[in-house]
Amino acid sequence: MQVVEKIAGMRHLRRQLAEPVGFVPTMGYLHDGHLSLVRAARAESRSVVVSIFVNPTQFGPQEDLASYPRDTERDLTLLTKEAVDAVFMPSAAEMYPGRFGVYVDGGKTAGRLEGACRPGHFRGVATVVAKLFNIVRPTRAYFGQKDAQQVAVIKKMVADLNMDLEVVALPTVREPDGLAMSSRNVYLNPAERRAALTLYRSLCLAQRLWREGETDAGLLRRKMVALIEKEPLASIDYVSIAGAETLDELDEVKPPVLVSLAVRIGGTRLIDNIVL
Ligand code: PAF
Repeated sequence: MQVVEKIAGMRHLRRQLAEPVGFVPTMGYLHDGHLSLVRAARAESRSVVVSIFVNPTQFGPQEDLASYPRDTERDLTLLTKEAVDAVFMPSAAEMYPGRFGVYVDGGKTAGRLEGACRPGHFRGVATVVAKLFNIVRPTRAYFGQKDAQQVAVIKKMVADLNMDLEVVALPTVREPDGLAMSSRNVYLNPAERRAALTLYRSLCLAQRLWREGETDAGLLRRKMVALIEKEPLASIDYVSIAGAETLDELDEVKPPVLVSLAVRIGGTRLIDNIVL
């Protein structure tokens, strides 16, 4: 496995990689969710590239850029075991030199939900993903459905800007009790870890009510909110029932529907979703 820190080095290596090239962009601190993407890329490609880059432009000024968990040595050990061909690990100065000034706007999809709570977040995501796509030039890029809105923004960017690759979204990987895997779960103390289950439970509640025939989206939202509000450590950023492609909030549940939420558990902001 080759580890490359410079853009020129990655471009050079890319020219030697056998096609098709599967690419998994990450911010490191890898968990089984990331590894499921790497394994899918490995199964479907002759070469696999993973990037590890904690992208400063997608963090707001009050967010956790400085404390975002990092463990490069462990990440590289895990990726070696997955038979990854190349890891691209640039510095912030390499990706955003002083003269940097052109950003990719995430469009309308980027303005809602996460975008409304975290202004500028998807501009940072779309910009870095566009740069990574230009540097790595993958055949296919793999993303987790846990970040459903990120997947929607990236798919739209690829379509609208005629980028020549396929975006593959894979199911959220969960802990045995249902908590969605996330690098940020490491911030949770034992009481918060228990409280964090309220996200998954509220999604399961919405799914159960819908399966029983409930189509009033407002009622599903209220039931989810009521359940989460019973958890003293939880504070809701949003609970959304929206069209899976447009992300427009719905009055009536008409599949495909994205049920998503962002909840703060103590000081940790968690997101999760399911598609009905
Ligand atoms: O999902 C992530 O880890 C990041 O948003 C991504 C796609 C690697 C861009 O920095």
